[in-house]
Amino acid sequence: MKIKDLLGCKFGVAINEDVIKNHKNLIVNEFNSVTFENALKFNYRIKENLDYDFKEADKLYEFAVKNNLSVRGHCLVWHVGFPQKILGNLSRDELLNEIRRYTRSVAKRYPSIYAWDVVNEIYSMAEKGLRKTPFSEIIGEDYIEECFKIAREELGNKVELYYNEEDEWFMPKIKGIIKTAKRLVKKKVPIDGIGLQCHISCYEDVSNYRYLLENIKKLGLKCQITEMEVSVYDWTDGNYKVCPQEVLDKQAKVYLEMFKLFEDYKDTINLINFWSVSDGCTWRDNWPVINRKDWPTLFDEEDNPKKAYNQIVNYLAQKEQV
Ligand code: GLA
Repeated sequence: MKIKDLLGCKFGVAINEDVIKNHKNLIVNEFNSVTFENALKFNYRIKENLDYDFKEADKLYEFAVKNNLSVRGHCLVWHVGFPQKILGNLSRDELLNEIRRYTRSVAKRYPSIYAWDVVNEIYSMAEKGLRKTPFSEIIGEDYIEECFKIAREELGNKVELYYNEEDEWFMPKIKGIIKTAKRLVKKKVPIDGIGLQCHISCYEDVSNYRYLLENIKKLGLKCQITEMEVSVYDWTDGNYKVCPQEVLDKQAKVYLEMFKLFEDYKDTINLINFWSVSDGCTWRDNWPVINRKDWPTLFDEEDNPKKAYNQIVNYLAQKEQV
């Protein structure tokens, strides 16, 4: 039995060109949805002549369509990598127009994308509120509302629109996310749901997530788990040459608790997406500590299912029988 066949929602992973070359079987056999790691980020695609570089995205999209994988879009508006030289001197209307032009292009070129992150990481703990970004500076405080409106107009009603957020594992941030989501709903912004990145560790307090999911549900919004992994480290502490079994057991426990929680909210969550395909290929080997091996996924370095995977399968299979 496989997780993707037992879950009541989509099961996805982030891909790039190397990943589809080296881990094709794992992706095709174990997942039914993909998102592109960097290949559709607006900031990274726009060139100095205002043309777009869709070379990698075209290949990834073709791979997804050929293998019957759903595609999730990530992301339209993000502060990281803002191309100052290209967009920094535009007026409010010009920048909004550039966002519209990009959204229209991806809608036309990749018509089967079923959901988009319209905004990514907009709430800042340091600023105790909405993050100041080149987008907010140029467009103004209403940039989030404006971008959702543009996304709805250009992508249509069938594509789900998300506010995707990071660091959603501790209460002060969770409160900030809920406050932001409430504000958007109250303003009747055309938003469908909240994306939770879920870059967590095996030291996480899962009950915080329950509180967040309950509030997302109360607001009548959907939720997607967008970039999941469970690091074996408590942030920058520790550095294993080989991961001790007791740590992998701890990781399996947190994975199981999280998937149990996701099942409790299966009417709200419609995707669980991973940010690395297996322990053999993970960006967490270089974050938050450079050159430190991590084992954060459900598959080992040879792409085989780990204890965490098997426990989730057993739990979901048992649940199905009841
Ligand atoms: C954030 C972004 C992702 C990715 C990761 C790090 O979570 O949303 O697109 O860049 O950081 O790889």
